[in-house]
Amino acid sequence: MIDKNTYANKYKFNPRNSICVVTGGSSGIGKSLIEELHNRQAKKIINIDIKDNESNIADFINCDVSNNDEMRSVINKIYDKYNYIDLFCSNAGIATDDDGLASVKHWDQIWKTNVLQHTNVVRNCIAKMLKNKSGWFLITASAAGLLSQVGSATYSTTKHATVGFAEWLSITYGDFGIGVSLLCPQGVNTPMTENIENGGVAGINGMLEPKEVAKITLDNMALGKFLITPHEIVKKYIKIKAEDPDKWIIGMRKLYKQFVI
Ligand SMILES: NC(=O)c1ccc[n+]([C@@H]2O[C@H](COP(=O)([O-])OP(=O)(O)OC[C@H]3O[C@@H](n4cnc5c(N)ncnc54)[C@H](O)[C@@H]3O)[C@@H](O)[C@H]2O)c1
Repeated sequence: MIDKNTYANKYKFNPRNSICVVTGGSSGIGKSLIEELHNRQAKKIINIDIKDNESNIADFINCDVSNNDEMRSVINKIYDKYNYIDLFCSNAGIATDDDGLASVKHWDQIWKTNVLQHTNVVRNCIAKMLKNKSGWFLITASAAGLLSQVGSATYSTTKHATVGFAEWLSITYGDFGIGVSLLCPQGVNTPMTENIENGGVAGINGMLEPKEVAKITLDNMALGKFLITPHEIVKKYIKIKAEDPDKWIIGMRKLYKQFVI
C-alpha cells in the first residue's frame, strides 16, 4: 500500500543495527520499547533508569535523568564507546495527583524529571547528532500534554511543556538530519497506573498494554511520523478542543466531577 501522507520527519526510523538509548527502560512503556527494539534487531540498547530490572537485552546505567551533570557524563561515555546514538527515547516520567497547590519541592522534582530530562538529553546529544547527520529523539509526553490531566496540575503542566519542547525541536532541527517523534498515549497498563481502578480518567477510552504502545510507536516512526497517539480518539479530542476551547473546558469539568471529586 502506498502511504500518501506527508510526515514531519524527512527520514523513516529503522531500528535494525541501531544504537538505542531508552530512559525509564526498567518498567512499563520504556521496558516494552526496549523489547520491541530488540525484536526489530537493534544492535545495542542502553537503559538509563534509577532502578535496575536486570534485563538481558539492554545494558543498564543507573542515572537520574533530571540531573544534567549525570546525564552529560553518561551520554559522553555512550558516544565514546559507540560513536553514534541512532535513537534516544526520552521516556522516564513520574505522576502524582495534586490539586494544583502541590508543594514547591514536588513541582521542582516533577519539572526536572518530566521536562528538564528532555532538555538534558538534547543538550548533550545534539552537537554530535548534527555532526553525524543522524539521530532520532522519541519523546514520551502524554495525551495529558495535548488535552489535560484532570486532578493533576503538575502532570498536565509538565506534559504540555514536553509537547512544546518536542515541537520546537522538530521545527528547529528537522531539516538538518534530526528525527523527532512525540508519543502521547492515554491510559496504559503500567506500574504508573496500577493502583488506579481501570486507569481512572486516563482509562476512559480503554487501557492499552505497553507492548501495543511500543509496537504502534515503532510502526509510526517507520513511516516518519512526528505525533504518535496510540489511542486514535485523542486526535478527535484535539479537534474538538481547537474548534471550541470554551465548550471543551466545560466538558472537562464534568470529567473532573466524575473522576476526582
Ligand atoms: N502509563 C500511562 O498511562 C501513561 C500514559 C501516558 C504517558 N505516560 C508516560 O510514559 C512514560 C513512561 O511511563 P510508564 O507508565 O511506563 O511508568 P513506569 O512508572 O512504569 O516507568 C517509569 C520508569 O521511569 C523511571 N524513572 C522515574 N524517574 C526517573 C529519573 N529521575 N531518572 C531515571 N529514571 C526514572 C522509573 O524508575 C521507571 O522505571 C512517562 O513519561 C509517563 O508520564 C504514561
